[in-house]
Amino acid sequence: MAREFMAAIVDILQGRHVGKEVELKGWIYRIRSVGGKVFVVVRDATGIVQATVSKGSLPEAEFASIERALIESAVVVRGEVVEDKRAPGGYEIRASSVRVVHHAEKFPIQEDLSEEFLLDVRHLWIRSQRMTAIFRVRHTVFGAVHEYFRGEGFWEVHPPMITPAGSEGGATLFEVEYFGRKAHLTQSWQLYAEALALSMEKVYYVGPSFRAEKSRTTRHLTEYWHAEMEQAWAGMEDIMKHAEGVISHACQRVAEERPNEVVALGRTPEFLRAVKPPFDRITYEDALKVLKAKGTDVEWGKDLRTLEERALTEGKVKPIFVTHYPKITQAFYKARDPTRPDLVLAFDVIAGDDVGEIVGGSERETDLETIKRSLVEQGEEPKAYDWYLDSRRYGSVQHAGFGMGMERLIQWICKLPHIRDGVPFPRTPARFAP
Ligand code: 4AD
Ligand code: MG
Repeated sequence: MAREFMAAIVDILQGRHVGKEVELKGWIYRIRSVGGKVFVVVRDATGIVQATVSKGSLPEAEFASIERALIESAVVVRGEVVEDKRAPGGYEIRASSVRVVHHAEKFPIQEDLSEEFLLDVRHLWIRSQRMTAIFRVRHTVFGAVHEYFRGEGFWEVHPPMITPAGSEGGATLFEVEYFGRKAHLTQSWQLYAEALALSMEKVYYVGPSFRAEKSRTTRHLTEYWHAEMEQAWAGMEDIMKHAEGVISHACQRVAEERPNEVVALGRTPEFLRAVKPPFDRITYEDALKVLKAKGTDVEWGKDLRTLEERALTEGKVKPIFVTHYPKITQAFYKARDPTRPDLVLAFDVIAGDDVGEIVGGSERETDLETIKRSLVEQGEEPKAYDWYLDSRRYGSVQHAGFGMGMERLIQWICKLPHIRDGVPFPRTPARFAP
């Protein structure tokens, strides 16, 4: 008999080990016993596979131990891999030994439980086939984002998470008590990125951002992962290429590496493969015209809401760019359009399936006095931003950047009804435990 070797379930299901003796470590996903035979479906990080074991083929005590094992008990299975059309996934392990490493207590998650309960036991629900499939996609998406930016010559640099002031408006800033002083959790690396762009020129990072956003929607978290880039000597056009580039690259990688997960979650690899540049573009003002023609009136200057984003992305596979937003609604650092001073050189990438904005970016205002005025107009105290304004005092150059919500991208790629499943332990206004 060949020596057993450690196998991952994904490899067994791809038919790589047929006829071989393997050792498999995992947890019981399902178990039933019929006429002296036990069918144990085992899960590991990569999938589930059935193992069968017959009474008489192993010591009595070992068989008894398996028979009384409950789901989520930890097991080490040894046996031969055979092809069997009747088994889920088409392969099965004819086990010569199933050692129960730990007998689990009765698992609290059974069928038909409420969303709220599943959030209470999130630390256990993350073992489910659905969650592990999403985590594997998330792993691939994060890898692809790093790969894209590094491949394009960006340096990975890191901003602080504890900050004196925000960049996206006071309303969504989390306050932290900092040895008797008031500090805030970062909303975006924005201010630091602009300083770093004048140091390292092409920079990116992927890390957490925090938003004290009370809005209970299917696309807001209070803590999310943010992929951000900033580029010196670059304008809006240059970075829009990177926005569609990075989204496309992530989709291609997921289609290549995670086809089974994608199908299980309700997308297809073909859908993702079609997400290639260029993405369609429309200006904010043209978008209002399209919406008007579809029967929705949006007042100039107002943000687009879910139903309007839905109308704009209807029937489109790829996300779209909406560009040139009115200055009045936008953060102080966004550059004015020189041909239309009431607009900014800013864009969003809007995805379908009600995910909406996955990227927000802009060219940055480079003029010191203009940016100071914008700060004052937005009720900010320019003095609090003095260190940041040094980027407009010492070698100010054209620069631009964007931020992409990683969970929004994952939500869209995986067709998730709610953003919270894009991250293992979601933080929302209602909950920060477990
Ligand atoms: O549009 P936002 O607020 O832009 C910024 O923070 C810029 N400073 C980014 C930059 O230019 N470096 O946020 C960027 C993206 C959004 O497009 C969205 O995908 C995501 O971050 N995002 C959220 N994701 C989940 N939950 C929330 N509450 C989010 N708020 C923003
Ligand atoms: Mg935005």
